[in-house]
Amino acid sequence: MRAWRKSVGHVTLVPTMGFLHDGHMSLVRRAKAEGGKVAVSIFVNPTQFGPTEDLSTYPRNESRDLDMLRDAGVDAVFIPDVADVYDPNAQTIVETTELAKVLIGKLRPGHFRGVATVVTKLFNIIRPDAAVFGEKDYQQLAVIRTMVRDLDMDVKIIGGPIMREADGLAMSSRNVRLSPEDRAAAPVLARALNEAAAMAPTGVTASRLRSHVRATLEAEPRAQVQSVDIRDAETLETISGPLTRPAVILLAVKFGQVFLIDNRVVYPKEQA
Ligand code: PAF
Repeated sequence: MRAWRKSVGHVTLVPTMGFLHDGHMSLVRRAKAEGGKVAVSIFVNPTQFGPTEDLSTYPRNESRDLDMLRDAGVDAVFIPDVADVYDPNAQTIVETTELAKVLIGKLRPGHFRGVATVVTKLFNIIRPDAAVFGEKDYQQLAVIRTMVRDLDMDVKIIGGPIMREADGLAMSSRNVRLSPEDRAAAPVLARALNEAAAMAPTGVTASRLRSHVRATLEAEPRAQVQSVDIRDAETLETISGPLTRPAVILLAVKFGQVFLIDNRVVYPKEQA
């Protein structure tokens, strides 16, 4: 990888954990729009999974991924082994101290430390000029932007919009692990977010919006609601009272053992 990197000019990286779907391919298209070469990494990063999480069952299909990337005209694919990425004697971690503790960070302690550390390592190995991350992982994108700013990393961070199935379910590698009944129920996340987007410009308060979204999710018996949060879309700070700035609604819901997230930025009256 390092030899390839030295032989080419501008590189945009799309970091992934594989089991690619149209959502990833839209990030690849966004990367191609930057001009220059596109590299994709496929690495199911063990340090971002908690001890009781789905590392062992995380879906994988390397040969299909490689076919998709070849068809998309990607220039380089980096598929390291865990031992290539993590030295057993490693002592250094990267952590956005505040952002890593809230929201998903509360539900998945250590998750964002694993993400920030592996993304730093991928940046150091591949040395991209730019990198594209999906907006579905809204907090992850905020963590990476914060890390890049705080550590003066010379990488342009680009967000790629959420891609959805026809019934609204946000595309995710985890969707294949949903039972047919849970798959049929899961679009409730998108429905709840759509309702919130329609309510936001009516002058509704953040807490009223949050209770409405929670009630919509809880009306679906298969949904185990983990968290519903409304935060400032830019800073991720908590908000209360009527919306005065764009806000992001962040959902985490389990169906069986499958952990799904989704989000939507909503706008108060004057910006709708
Ligand atoms: O979003 C993902 O797939 C992962 O968190 C990432 C950014 C590739 C780091 O392992």
